[in-house]
This record gives sequence, structure tokens and C-alpha cells, in this order.
Amino acid sequence: MDYYEIEGGIPLRGEYRVKGAKNSALPIMAATVCRAGVHELYDCPRIEDVFIMEKILQALGARTYWQDHCLVVDSRNVCESVVPAELMTEMRSSVFLLGSLLARCGEATIYRPGGCNIGKRPIDMHISGLQQLGIEVEVSGEYGEKVSCCGVCRGGTVTLPYPSVGATENLIMAALSGDGDTIIENCASEPEIADLQGFLRLCGFQVYGCGTDTVFIKGSGSTISRMPSAETMYFIMEDRIEAATYIMAAAGTGGRLVLRGIRPELLKEVLRAVERMGAAVHASGDIIEVISPRRLRSPGIVVTEPFPGFPTDCQPQLLTVSTVARGLTTIREEIFESRFTHKKELIKMGANIETCGKNAIIKGVPFLHGEKVEALDLRGGAALVLAGLMAEGRTTVTGVRHIDRGYEDLDKGIRTLGGLIERRTCD
Ligand code: EPZ
Repeated sequence: MDYYEIEGGIPLRGEYRVKGAKNSALPIMAATVCRAGVHELYDCPRIEDVFIMEKILQALGARTYWQDHCLVVDSRNVCESVVPAELMTEMRSSVFLLGSLLARCGEATIYRPGGCNIGKRPIDMHISGLQQLGIEVEVSGEYGEKVSCCGVCRGGTVTLPYPSVGATENLIMAALSGDGDTIIENCASEPEIADLQGFLRLCGFQVYGCGTDTVFIKGSGSTISRMPSAETMYFIMEDRIEAATYIMAAAGTGGRLVLRGIRPELLKEVLRAVERMGAAVHASGDIIEVISPRRLRSPGIVVTEPFPGFPTDCQPQLLTVSTVARGLTTIREEIFESRFTHKKELIKMGANIETCGKNAIIKGVPFLHGEKVEALDLRGGAALVLAGLMAEGRTTVTGVRHIDRGYEDLDKGIRTLGGLIERRTCD
């Protein structure tokens, strides 16, 4: 089991080019099943969740191979509609295969992991949306982990009870082969959904409105199976959460960072928060510069919300930086039920944090001290790396496998900015 060894207290300084987005690559990889063809996905991050999704696609009959950061998916021979149970892992994005397999072959079976460290993660909205579109869904297995769907989307209007990112993406894909046209209302408007739309249009589908709360999908009916195989080249969008994580690392260490390949409009609330904390932010085109004072002040009250609000995937990182900011910070996590998983570890490092339900109250302390801490989930783990960079002394972060799910070479990126971090393997 690998761990990170970090010597803290060094301000991060330098430039970093943001990589491709995990939360865009995963649905787009699933979407390669919707249209038979050879799909070249550029700027695809080399992370564990992508490698697991690759195995799932191979199990369905697709061929995949890498050319540096381009993942090529040949989905012409996809012939299976059951995602093998043994590939059921904490990676939750197998659920996207429901929509894409329904579009391709009119049936789909996946096995889903139960809840994860940040919450129950049900898929009731996916299932009810599919049923409203005329799809038959059967949930079975001791824990309801087996989900089988079949039928053809009849089209119509579905209103989501909550702007779920995954449910929006799944229903879009399921509706592609619909006999009728589909309108999905109260959709999530995350930029990654617009990225999925860009890829689907390249595949010849008619999808409109992604990035807003209402999406229109023209049902292609049974013509999908008669579509000639496609050859597509698509550039996956930048990872705004990776960018936000580096911004928080620079802010927390009193550093100075230039991020390249990131549109500032994707991070408005994150940039507003670090500015409230006293950092100077200069943004133009696809470059963001953050200059942080030696000691930050509290960002005040921050509530996580669906896009364009403050992203839940950056809440653990902000909470960590707030532990040494001057004053009192209140963070309310409105998206997931238990996303303060790293609180205990931060308190071991000297933080002053009280949580009550959705709220975390953080009283800024002068400094954190290095400790041995354990990552329990992806973003909480990244936040503990930030804590180690900010702390005085040495910090060991175990459970790096959680971090590998969503960050490519996080330690390497931090080293290019002058941070002292090494990846080690337990004997
Ligand atoms: C996506 O997860 C992201 N993952 C998450 O990123 C992100 O935190 C989340 O959207 C919110 O932005 C990917 O895109 C692969 P949701 P998703 O459906 O689709 C509840 C990361 O760290 N809900 O918008 O699962 C759900 O439990 C990951 O990169 C239902 O109750 O998120 C949650 O409380 C973490 N029933 C809330 O809605 C459903 O059927 C938002 O979930 C679906 C969701």
C-alpha cells in the first residue's frame, strides 16, 4: 500500500497545466458505446477510475489502447450488455453504462457498489427517469445491487426531482435511441454535461441545452443500429476540480501559482472564496494566477451547491485551508451526507473543527503540525495532502489509492511547484 511523505511549510510557487477532467472522461467513455466506431479521446486523464472504466468497456467487447494521453476506444464490436459483477468497485460511474447500453442495444445490466464514504449515493432518480421514459427496470440482488433495464425510450418529458449530474447524463444517453424526442427538466448544468453533449454531437446525435436546466434529445429510433461506424476525435475538457485543488494548495501554503489550460468561468465561486480569504486572483483567457498572503483570513460562510455554486468536490480542500485561516469559517455541505471524512485527521494535526449535521465550524489556528493520517476517500485524501503541505514538520498520508482514483501524479505536480512530497510503498 502506497503512502505520501510530505515535509510541510514550503510555499508552492510555479506553473501547472491542468489535465483532462475525470468527471467528463468517465461519461464520455461510456458514451463511446452509444455509437459504434473508433473514438479518439484526447487529454484523457490516466487515473484509476478511467482504467476501471476501460476494463468495463473491454468486458463489453470494446477494444481500447492509449497513445500518451489519448485513449482510443473501438466500440464497433460491443456485443455484451451486462457489466461483470467483478468490476463492481467503489468507482460509481458504471451506472453510466445503463444509458449508453440502452441506446446501443436496448438492454443493460450493471452491478452497483453500495454507498461510499461520502454518502449513500442511491440511483433512484436514474431509475425513475428511465421508467418515465418507458424503460423497464428491475432491481435485484441482496442489496439491490443488480440493476437490469430493457426497452426503447418512448420519449416525453422527465422532470428530475434534483439536478443530479449522473442522472442527467444517464437519461441523455438512454434517450438517444428513443422512438420519440425527450425533454429533461431540472437538469444538472455542470460543464462536464456540456462536454458530453459535445462528444455526442460529434457522434451524430442531436442533443441541445446541456449546461442549462433543460435538455432536448432528438430520438434517433432504431436508426442507431444502422448508423455506419464513426471515427471521432474529441478533446476532453479541463478538470476544474484538479485546478481548484492546486489553487487551494497554493493558497494554503502562502504560495504563488499560475494555472494554464483552465477557463476561469468554470471556477467562479472557488476564486471568489480564495479572494475573500485575502489571495489576489488574476484571470484571463485560460490562465489563472493566484497570489496568496502568508496567512489567510476566513472565507466566512460557504455552502456547496450544484453548478455554478461552490462545488462539493472542492469542499474538503477549502475546509482544510480554512483550518489555519484567521477567524471563524462555516461550511455547509448540501450535496452529500457525509463529506467531512477528513475532519478527524485534521484535528489530529491541530485543527479546531466542530461538525453538526451538514455544517462544519472551523476556528482558525496559527498552524497545523505534521502527523500520520489516512485518506478515506478521493477529495478528503487530496485535502489531507494539502494539510501536510501546510503543516509544520512531516506528514504521512496513507490510503493513496483513494487519491489515485481522481488525480494523475498529484505528487509529481506538487513537486514541480516546489513542494516536498514523495510517494513511498509499504514493504
Ligand atoms: C457527480 O456524481 C460527480 N461524479 C461527483 O464527483 C460530484 O461530486 C457530483 O456529481 C456532484 O457534483 C462524476 O461525475 C463521475 P449527483 P453523481 O447525482 O452524479 C443524490 C468526485 O469527487 N442522488 O449529482 O453521483 C446523491 O446521493 C465525485 O469527483 C440521489 O439521491 O452526483 C447526492 O447526494 C464525487 N439519487 C446528490 O444527489 C440519485 O438517483 C448529488 O448527486 C442520484 C443522486
